[in-house]
Amino acid sequence: MEPYRIKVVEPIPITTREYRERRYAEGGCNQFNLTADDVTIDLLSDSGTGALSAEQQAAGMRGDETYAGARSWARFRDVVAELTGYEHIFPVHQGRAAERILFTSLLKPGQISISNTHFDTTRANVEIAGGVIRDLPCPEAKDLDSDEPFKGNIDLAALEAALAGPEDVGLVLMTITNNGGGGQPVSMSNLKKASKLCRKYGVPFILDAARFAENAWLVTQREDKYRDHSPREVAEKAFRLADGCVASLKKDGIAHIGGMLALNDTALAKQCELLLLATEGFRTYGGLSGRDLDMCAQGLLEVTEPLYLKERAESTAYLAECARQAGVDSVQPAGVHAVYLNAGRLLPHIPPSQFTGHALASELYLAGGIRCAELGSLYLGEITEDGELITPAPYELVRLAIPRRVYTRSHLEYVAETLAGIAKNPEQVPGYRLTEAPAMLRPFRCRLEKIT
Ligand code: F0G
Repeated sequence: MEPYRIKVVEPIPITTREYRERRYAEGGCNQFNLTADDVTIDLLSDSGTGALSAEQQAAGMRGDETYAGARSWARFRDVVAELTGYEHIFPVHQGRAAERILFTSLLKPGQISISNTHFDTTRANVEIAGGVIRDLPCPEAKDLDSDEPFKGNIDLAALEAALAGPEDVGLVLMTITNNGGGGQPVSMSNLKKASKLCRKYGVPFILDAARFAENAWLVTQREDKYRDHSPREVAEKAFRLADGCVASLKKDGIAHIGGMLALNDTALAKQCELLLLATEGFRTYGGLSGRDLDMCAQGLLEVTEPLYLKERAESTAYLAECARQAGVDSVQPAGVHAVYLNAGRLLPHIPPSQFTGHALASELYLAGGIRCAELGSLYLGEITEDGELITPAPYELVRLAIPRRVYTRSHLEYVAETLAGIAKNPEQVPGYRLTEAPAMLRPFRCRLEKIT
């Protein structure tokens, strides 16, 4: 059961199918054009959408809004330093700010950033800095159904080949857990070996630690050597294998806003500090208020609580299992922050050119007021400006991201029941066509219509 009780509540909108049909069509059948009042259960993102604890609220009240050298900064720095062991710590307003500052300071034009999988803002920031991304997910990640415990791993053989080759590698970035790769964890053994390779070839090894605590929890559950470790101990060890991290604290900081960049390299940190100062804020607040810094610091202490992580992981696995029993498969084994539904398998009558994942995400909204994100050809495919799909994505997935401490099991049961209703008559779900297909940041800006 949830290891907390609820002290503050917020009503959720209960709407009719007729209302949702109208609102969805008005918004060009794009989930990003819906408003809070249109959505009953919001599984669009687990970022900045968590519930604060009483202790976080109290920490917020202690927030010190001194411009330079606030007490909130000292508390934030101490918590991050103890958790990560890194020497230079910079707060930023969210994860992508840390990415921009790091890549702009570190990457030379044409240099390669290697990752198990770059998240989309991470990729964009590498490219804006003149770098080139290369994703090297492990081969096990290709099989969505297998029970392999660490499908978030990097392909070590491919990594070594790239590091030993003639190309100029600027950094290796490990995303824990691997959000672009089905929310799958990275093992400590994989992290250690990747770290060793980076040391051997003199390349900076950085963590994208947005979901570091959830990765640590899965390590304690799936990697024999760490079964008697606490998630906090695993997390501390993981950070110490790397030369620094970028992190969105909107995920495992359980904060509504916040992020950090932390590094050991003093010369690189100096470069980053300059950019931070010019674009985010002074080094002791980096775009955050004192209140935010204090709430992030408290969230970072709470997020490795074993009972919290256990319940969160179990409720996500429960949702995946309920969906499976209803006939809807998802990427196995279930991770922690999200369930990735296999829309391609559920809706074989809808070809990728009619956006299979988007069709399932749309039906979840129309049938149950549930909002979620497509991770298929609409997002990852190659599409012309006329909206024709040229190259489909490898899979047609739909991500149900679970906000932290927000929904109870009965909310998740409602989601599973809605899915079961769709799975009873999947052939009734229609495909979609694009009516506006902007080339840049398409998922946020495109418009579609139902194919009737
Ligand atoms: N890295 C990962 C792995 C992420 O999942 C995200 C954000 C970021 C970096 C960027 O952090 O949003 O604070 O700037 N992911 C959100 C999501 C948006 O819904 O998965 P940010």
